[in-house]
Amino acid sequence: MHASSALFAGHITTILTFEKNIFMYSSLIVQTEDHICTITINRPDKLNALNKTVIEELGAAIDDVNKNPEIRSAIITGSGPKAFVAGADISEFTSLSANGGKGLAQKGQDLVFSKIEQSTKPIIAAVNGFALGGGCELAMSCHFRVASDNAKFGQPEVNLGLIPGYGGTQRLVQLIGKGRAMELLMTGNMIDASTALQYGLVNHVISQEELLNKTKAILAIINSKAPLAVAACIKAANAVFDETKNGLALEIELFGKLFDTSDAKEGTAAFLEKRKANFTGK
Ligand code: COA
Repeated sequence: MHASSALFAGHITTILTFEKNIFMYSSLIVQTEDHICTITINRPDKLNALNKTVIEELGAAIDDVNKNPEIRSAIITGSGPKAFVAGADISEFTSLSANGGKGLAQKGQDLVFSKIEQSTKPIIAAVNGFALGGGCELAMSCHFRVASDNAKFGQPEVNLGLIPGYGGTQRLVQLIGKGRAMELLMTGNMIDASTALQYGLVNHVISQEELLNKTKAILAIINSKAPLAVAACIKAANAVFDETKNGLALEIELFGKLFDTSDAKEGTAAFLEKRKANFTGK
């Protein structure tokens, strides 16, 4: 057993133990197997609510996903049978004023939510129960979502006199369209997994027992592709929602650049030689 500290954005988080590719943070379990890093938010007694510690540790874990060459993709999930994440930790709201609320949202978006969305390694949400408020926002910041059949989604912030602060008003509209998003935002109603599937909020619904296996199987397919091409897919698709970027121009640029990679040469040669490509990420 070891203890070490990771420095990020001016904060120190402590990795409590590290054994056999499992890092135990105080509120996360992070395990890497077959190049897939599974980040489990581990506060089941509070339905994995996102407090300051969880946000800071998630920020550190996502930085590691992007820096660690052993990791090709990641899963974010919640601990226990009941919740993915039941929202931001409401107990931390009581002392907040306007500036404090703004700071909380800004810090969360910078440290975690925008970083997940912009990660050039795929990060998928395996939603194993309630995904409410910040939990729904966390799932939506991932590149796509797989849900268990007991999952429930919602943005209930209006019940608290608030709105989402971790990107929910933007990403919900992007994912399910303005009318459905407006209804969920303004009513605070929850939807079940089959409605989320019908809305396009999740890609697959599966039993809770099979949730992680299904998500890992999808990532195994993605991990077998050329990593630079996968990264370019993420960058180009994200540009649709970035007003500072011309998505078609970016696609042309990325498409061109990939021709200079070894993997594009290998991929095209393998097709013509009727063999499996051996990608190296270069
Ligand atoms: N923040 C802080 N604590 C939370 C939480 C949150 N977002 N969501 C749940 N918890 C805590 C509860 O306070 C409770 O703690 P306690 O046992 O110390 O009292 C524990 O998690 C279990 O939750 P509980 O409400 O007893 O479970 P339930 O099955 O009756 O209800 C929910 C489940 C998800 C419907 C309910 O917990 C809920 O509405 N949570 C808040 C959802 C929300 O508004 N999220 C957006 C926040 S911005």
